[in-house]
Amino acid sequence: MIKRPIIALDFSSKQEIENFLLKFPEAESLYVKVGMELFYQEGPDIIAFLKDYGHDIFLDLKLHDIPNTVENAMKGLAKLGVSMTNVHASGGKTMMEAAKLGLESGGQKTCPQLIAVTQLTSTGEKQMQEEQLIKSSLIDSVCHYAVLAKESTLDGVVCSALEAKAIHQVTTPDFLCVTPGIRPNLGKVQDQKRVVTPKIAREIGANAIVVGRPITKVVDPYHAYQRIKQEWSQENE
Ligand code: C5P
Repeated sequence: MIKRPIIALDFSSKQEIENFLLKFPEAESLYVKVGMELFYQEGPDIIAFLKDYGHDIFLDLKLHDIPNTVENAMKGLAKLGVSMTNVHASGGKTMMEAAKLGLESGGQKTCPQLIAVTQLTSTGEKQMQEEQLIKSSLIDSVCHYAVLAKESTLDGVVCSALEAKAIHQVTTPDFLCVTPGIRPNLGKVQDQKRVVTPKIAREIGANAIVVGRPITKVVDPYHAYQRIKQEWSQENE
C-alpha cells in the first residue's frame, strides 16, 4: 500500500506549483502526480524541480501509441528518475510489454513502477458501450484490461476503487490498484463518475489513492491533505 495520498498537481506552470507547495511544511515528503497539463507546459525540468524538494513522482502521461514509439518514449522517461509512470491498457499487450522494456533499458538503478489505465474514472458504463462499442459491462472491461496488464508484467492498474476487489480476484492481491476519483465529500464529484471517499477506498482494497481538486482547489490544502491522509492510512486509529 502506498501510504501517502498521491496529490495530482494539475496546474499549468511551475509558479503555480511553487505557490501550492508553499502551503506544505518544508520537511513533509509528498508523493505527487505530474500529468500532461503540467508536463507539456513545463517540460521534463519540472520533474528535476520536484525531486529537489524530495518528493516522489508519479508521471501520469498515459502513453498510447505503437509499441516501438512507446518503448523509445519510455526509455527517455526512465532517465527522469520518477517512481511510477503509466500507459493505456487499450494500447494492447505488445505495447505494454514494449513500455516495460523501454523503462528497464533506461539505465536507472531502480526501474519505475509501470501501471496501465483501464477505463478512465470519468467514463460511465453507457458511454463506454456506446462510444467504444464494448458490449461487456464496465467491470468486465476493467478486469479484462487488468489481466492483460498483469500478463504484460506491469505492476498494476489505474482504476476506480470500486473495481479494486474484482481486480485483485482476477490478478493477485499485491497487483497495484491506483485509484483516482476520490472525494472526501461525495457531494462534489465534478467530472468524475466512479467516486468514493478515502476511507471506503481503503476498505474496498485500493492500494493507492490519487487526489486532485479536493486538495489543490481548497482554501487550506495542507489541512485537507492531512485529513485525507489520516482517513486513508488509518493513522491515529
Ligand atoms: O481532481 P481529481 O481528484 O478529480 O483528479 C484526479 C486526477 O487523476 C487527475 O489528474 C486525472 O487526470 C487523474 N486520472 C483520473 N482517472 C484515471 C486516470 C487518471 O482521474 N483513470
